[in-house]
Amino acid sequence: MEPELEKLKEKLNAVILAHYYELDEIQENADFVGDSLALAQIAAKTEADIIVFCGVKFMAETAKILSPEKKVLLPVEDAGCPMADMATKEAVLKKKKELMNPVVVSYVNTNADVKSVSDICCTSANAINVVQSIKENRVLFVPDRNLGEYVKENVKNKTVYLWDGYCPTHEAFGISELEELKNSYPDAKVAVHPESPKAVRDAADFIGSTSGIIDYVQKSADNEFIIGTEEGVLFDMKRRTKNKRFHIIGNRAICINMKKTHLNDLYDALKYGRYEINLNEDIIKSAYEPIKKMISIKRS
Ligand code: 13P
Ligand code: SF4
Repeated sequence: MEPELEKLKEKLNAVILAHYYELDEIQENADFVGDSLALAQIAAKTEADIIVFCGVKFMAETAKILSPEKKVLLPVEDAGCPMADMATKEAVLKKKKELMNPVVVSYVNTNADVKSVSDICCTSANAINVVQSIKENRVLFVPDRNLGEYVKENVKNKTVYLWDGYCPTHEAFGISELEELKNSYPDAKVAVHPESPKAVRDAADFIGSTSGIIDYVQKSADNEFIIGTEEGVLFDMKRRTKNKRFHIIGNRAICINMKKTHLNDLYDALKYGRYEINLNEDIIKSAYEPIKKMISIKRS
C-alpha cells in the first residue's frame, strides 16, 4: 500500500474494500479485495470507523445498510451499476402484485429502495442456495435475467419469474466469440460468470462468481483458461497463479463504472471524507433484514 494512503487510513481508522473489477492500482492498495458476498460480509463485521468502498454504488449502500453507524465512502460519486437501475421499487411492487405475491429475491446489484421491498437478497455466489432456502414455491428474481435463468435451471422445484434486466458487460459475451477462442485454444477450460447469456453458460466448464472463477483457475490442474467475466479479475488470477494463461471472451469485457475509481480518487475520499453514502432511515431498516439473510447463506 502507498505509504501516504496507509498513514491517512491508520489515522482515520478506515478500511479500504475493493471489488475484483476495480483497476489494478486500487486492488493493490485495498485492505480486502473480494466478490460482492465477501465484501458485504467484511463490511458487516469490520471494527473500522470508516469504510471506503471501491466498487459501485449498490455495494457501498449495502455496506451502509449493514453498518449504519459507520461512515461509508464511495470515492467516485457516479460509479453506478446500469443493471441495478433496470429495476425500480415501484415496478417491483407492481410486478409482485400482478403475480399475486411471490417471494421477492433481489440480486445485491439493486438500488437500496428495491432491497427495501425484497424478502431476501443474494449475490452471484449464493443465489442458488438463497432460492433453495425459501419455503414458498414461487419466486420473483430481480433484476438479472441471466442469473435468474441460471438459478431456475438449478432449482427445479420452484417457479422462478424473471425480470428483464441484464449486465451490459456480461450480456456482450457472444457464443461465436467463445467458439472462436475455443478453436484457437482447444485445451483451455471455460469459466464464466452467471450473468453471462445462456449459450455462453452452456458452453462453460465452470460457472461462478468472480471469486469462484479465481479459485477455480487457481486450484485447477489445467494451465489455460477462457474467462467470461470483467477483465479486472485477471489482476488477482495472475497474482495467484504462475505460468497459467487466460483469454477473456470478446474485446469489450470492461465495466466502465468499476474503472472510474483511480488512486487519486481513493486518496481524496479519505482526505476529504467523500462521497458519503446517506440513506433514509426507513430504507435502512427495511433493507437490513433481506441483506442480513443474504450474508448468512453460504456459497452455492
Ligand atoms: P460478484 O458477485 O462475482 O462479485 O459480481 C458482481 C458483479 O457486479 C458482477 O457483474
Ligand atoms: Fe453492474 Fe455489470 Fe458493472 Fe457488475 S459488471 S457492476 S453488474 S454493470
